[in-house]
Amino acid sequence: MAFIEKKDLKRIFSGVQPTGNLHLGNYLGAIRNWVNLQNEFECIFCMVDMHAITVWQDPEELRKNTRELAVGMIASGIDPEKNILFNQSRVSAHAELAWVLNCVARLGWLGRMTQFKEKAGKDKENSSVGLFAYPNLMAADILAYKATHVPVGHDQKQHLELTRDIAKKFNTDFKKEVFPIPEPLILGAGARVMSLRDGSKKMSKSDLSEYSRINMTDDADAIAKKLRKAKTDPLPLPSTMAELEGRPEAVNLIGIYAALKDSTVEKVLPELEGKQFSEFKKDITDLAVSVLEPISSEMSKLMKDTSYIDDVLRKGAERARVIAEPVIKEVYDTVGFLRD
Ligand code: TYM
Repeated sequence: MAFIEKKDLKRIFSGVQPTGNLHLGNYLGAIRNWVNLQNEFECIFCMVDMHAITVWQDPEELRKNTRELAVGMIASGIDPEKNILFNQSRVSAHAELAWVLNCVARLGWLGRMTQFKEKAGKDKENSSVGLFAYPNLMAADILAYKATHVPVGHDQKQHLELTRDIAKKFNTDFKKEVFPIPEPLILGAGARVMSLRDGSKKMSKSDLSEYSRINMTDDADAIAKKLRKAKTDPLPLPSTMAELEGRPEAVNLIGIYAALKDSTVEKVLPELEGKQFSEFKKDITDLAVSVLEPISSEMSKLMKDTSYIDDVLRKGAERARVIAEPVIKEVYDTVGFLRD
C-alpha cells in the first residue's frame, strides 16, 4: 500500500517496548485494538528499542525480545504488508527529531511525568538521562510521521498530553503548523488491565510476581493456574456497575473478560450476575485460552524463522524512512539549520 501525503489523512503511530514478556495488558490495551484499526488507518507500529535502553537491557535479550515482539504483533493479526512494522533504531529520524524536541520541551513538563517518578523510584539521581527524556523521544516517534491518532492503553495518556503540548509549542515558537496535534485513542474495557495479584496496580512486565500477569507466550496450564490464583473478594458478581465500586479485583477480572469478548463491562454484567468467583474463573480461563492459545502457538512457529522477521523489520524501516525523512527536512529547515 502506498503511503501518500494527504491533508485529510488519518495516520496511526504506536509503539511497544521490547523489554520481554508481552502480556495481556499490552494485548488488550493496545495490540488487539490495532488489529481493528489497520483497516481504517494508515498504520505504523514500532518496536521501540531505543526506549527500552533507558533502563539496562542485556544486548542479546534485547535482540531476542525485539523479534519476539514483532512476532507477537503479527501472530495477533497485524498484517506486516499492509502496515509498517519496524524497530525504532533503524530509522534515524527518531533520534534526530528527539534532539530538537529536547530543546522544545521544558524541564518542568518532564518533571511532572508520573511514569518517570514510578520508574526512577527513590534513586532518581542514579537513573539515566534517557529515562527522564523518554517522553520527548516518544513525541518524536509520533511527530516524525505527523501521526494524527495514537492508540495506547490508559497508562500512556500523560505522555500523549505532553506530545500534544510539545507539538503546539513547536508550531507556536516557529509560527508554522508543522505538526498536526495527535489524538489519543484509548479504547475499550482493556485500556486498563491491572495486576492479577493487586487490582490497584497495573499489569506490568516489571512486576516481580509471574502470577501478576498473563504472558502472551503462556500455555493453557499457565493461564489456568494464574487465573485460579488471581486475587478476588468474597462477594458474588453484581449486576450493575455501581455495585462494582470498591471492588478493584472484580472490576479488573470482569474488564478482562469483557475485553477478551470484544464487548463492554455493561454488556457482560447481566450474563455474570450472581456467579461466584470460582465459577467465573472457569469461564474466564476458557475464554482466555481460546483467544490466547492460537496466538502463542503462532508465535512459537514464527520465532523459528528469524530471517523472515528480520526481513519484515528491514522492509518496514525502509517504508518508515520514506515518510519520516521529509518531515525531518522540514523540521531542520524550520529551525534554521543550514543543509545541502
Ligand atoms: P509499553 O511498552 O509499556 O506498552 C505498550 C502498550 O501496551 C499498553 N499497556 C497496557 N494497556 C492496558 N493495561 C495495561 N496493564 C498495560 N500495560 C501496557 C500501553 O499503554 C501501550 O499502549 N511509552 C510506550 C511505548 C511508546 C509509544 C510511542 C506508544 C514509545 N513511543 C509512541 C505510542 C506512541 C510504552 O512504554 O509502552
